[in-house]
Amino acid sequence: MHLPSLLKARFADALKAADYSITEEQIDTFAGLIRGAGNPKFGDYQSNCAMPLGKLLEGVNSREVATRLAELVDLTGLCETPEVAGGGFINLKLSDKFLEESVAALLKDEERLLVDVVEEAKTIVIDYSSPNVAKPMHVGHIRTTVIGHCLAKTLRFLGHRVITDNHLGDWGTQFGMIIYGYKHFGDPEAVRANPVPELATLYRFVHKLMGYHEAVGNRETLEAEIGRLTELHAAASREAEAAEGKDAKKKRKAADSLAKKVKATEDQLKGAREKIAAVEADTETLAKANAHPDIATSVLTETAKLHAGDEENLSLWREFLPFCKDEINRVYSRLKVSFDHTFGESFYHSMLSGVVEDLQERGMATESDGAICIFLDDFDAPMIIRKRDGAFLYATTDLATLRYRKNNFDPDEILYVVDTRQGEHFKKLFAVAEKIGLADMKLVHVNFGTVLDKDGRPIKTRSGTLIGLEGLLNDAVAAAHAVVCNPDRLKTFEPPMDEEEQRLVSETVGIAAIKFADLGHDRQSDYRFDLSKMVALQGKTATYAQYCFARCKSILRKNDVTEEDVVSRVERDGIRFTQPEERKLALSLIQFEEALREVYSDYGPNHLVDYVYRTAEDFSRFNNECHVLKAETEAIRTTRLALVVSTLRVVRHALDLL
Ligand code: ARG
Repeated sequence: MHLPSLLKARFADALKAADYSITEEQIDTFAGLIRGAGNPKFGDYQSNCAMPLGKLLEGVNSREVATRLAELVDLTGLCETPEVAGGGFINLKLSDKFLEESVAALLKDEERLLVDVVEEAKTIVIDYSSPNVAKPMHVGHIRTTVIGHCLAKTLRFLGHRVITDNHLGDWGTQFGMIIYGYKHFGDPEAVRANPVPELATLYRFVHKLMGYHEAVGNRETLEAEIGRLTELHAAASREAEAAEGKDAKKKRKAADSLAKKVKATEDQLKGAREKIAAVEADTETLAKANAHPDIATSVLTETAKLHAGDEENLSLWREFLPFCKDEINRVYSRLKVSFDHTFGESFYHSMLSGVVEDLQERGMATESDGAICIFLDDFDAPMIIRKRDGAFLYATTDLATLRYRKNNFDPDEILYVVDTRQGEHFKKLFAVAEKIGLADMKLVHVNFGTVLDKDGRPIKTRSGTLIGLEGLLNDAVAAAHAVVCNPDRLKTFEPPMDEEEQRLVSETVGIAAIKFADLGHDRQSDYRFDLSKMVALQGKTATYAQYCFARCKSILRKNDVTEEDVVSRVERDGIRFTQPEERKLALSLIQFEEALREVYSDYGPNHLVDYVYRTAEDFSRFNNECHVLKAETEAIRTTRLALVVSTLRVVRHALDLL
């Protein structure tokens, strides 16, 4: 049940009956201007069509249009008599009878909870998580993983054909790094005995040495650059001081922008110095760094050898890849995330030369300076699909992937749930898709912002590398344990919770807290990672929603009824509200589909989180005002029990989708 659509249909009829000289299409647009009420005092929804319609009809007063439509619209069985307000708003209040009957229907529809299956099911591929394996998963991967999975579950529930694909980076430089690390610093026995941590250590070590040499190489340039920029800034500041009026403002701006550049370069230098210091702090590490001055090039060579089919590297890759997958699968199972496919970049390797040749033959890709490129009108630089040395790129793999998905799934939409910082890549990819005739599907970069620490910087650990994702999950579980299993709370449990139960509860609460907090933010903005807020019992948290759910269960227990009992009681007594809190909660419960459709409309799981929170709040108010066990009559008790069971089911289902 989608209330705005029900109301829209009624208004479309009214607009037809009003016989304004407007097209069918305009009728559809105007009828669709149904919004949630700005102020609940005036109703539940409002139609905002009279103002733009009045403007369009020239000379007709908007209020008159509103009054006419309010007279014509047939809202039988749905709303009370509409009221016109302000410059032409039509306020709509659903009738209690309609809400009561809807709750009864909701109770009978355990599976779909009144959420209709879409009329036109689309085939939608969702590309998410997609970490580069061989290095430990970091906190940045949490967002793509949980957003992607929530979208997949929600769109599927709405009735779309969803195909999920984890586009693993299982073929890139990071494998060159662990192969190089293994060959030069690895202990074969240790790796075989304890592959995951050993490979991670090798990865980190090679990363450290590469970072060191890069930093040493950059240090002087950065120092010189700071000197140059500082002088420029000083000169610009002097000029700004000397100038007057508008000119002074402009010059001040220029000086400020230079000051920012100085600061950014200083930060870069600071980072470089830290990398150098980290290696120099240990003589053995320093000796190794000095013994491997060309490590960066050598890593690329190992990667190139792997791609060229070198026996040794290929067999190491085959041996290591399953270990890397075990590592990420452990995280997925804790997050309860899964995929239909995990093709990964390696899957497309054999198709890459074919893709490039095909584009060359069709005249869409051309050689430039030895590289094969696709030139685009709206971009300064072309998309390079084969480098001079013959290597293929990330973009080449994405083109092959696009073609594969088109041929095998023929999707209507492909969603790429990837960090905002890859925006340029996707803009180009989509432009190329258009050019080469692969854009008859909707391609969307479902981008997301960065996770920040308390000070507003991208979250890092003390050692300067990103926190491993598993560490973060453990922290969340520990924080949840401190809250839900604190000794004072535990004392109140009869029978007491044993260790295993405490572990399970903390795991569930901790993981849900992280997911809920992540999904609750507008996906495009950055957010600060704050564990104590995430596991709090109050506020927009998973714990609050879980508490609502638990509360519903305990009310049923105290009333000694099952869900089925409540269904038959409703058949006997029907539903009738006696308190405003009952009505309010009922309205929220039947708005489930509205929230789910909003998630799809801008690929934003935050709408679902907001919905759960709103519903839990409405439940909490209901729970405070309306006693169930001590209800004045059996019929009142039935209505309240019906609301409790409905809340239980809707909140449970919504939490499952998150
Ligand atoms: N592996 C990439 C990374 O970690 C993300 C891949 C996203 N998907 C894609 N089709 N490009 O940056």
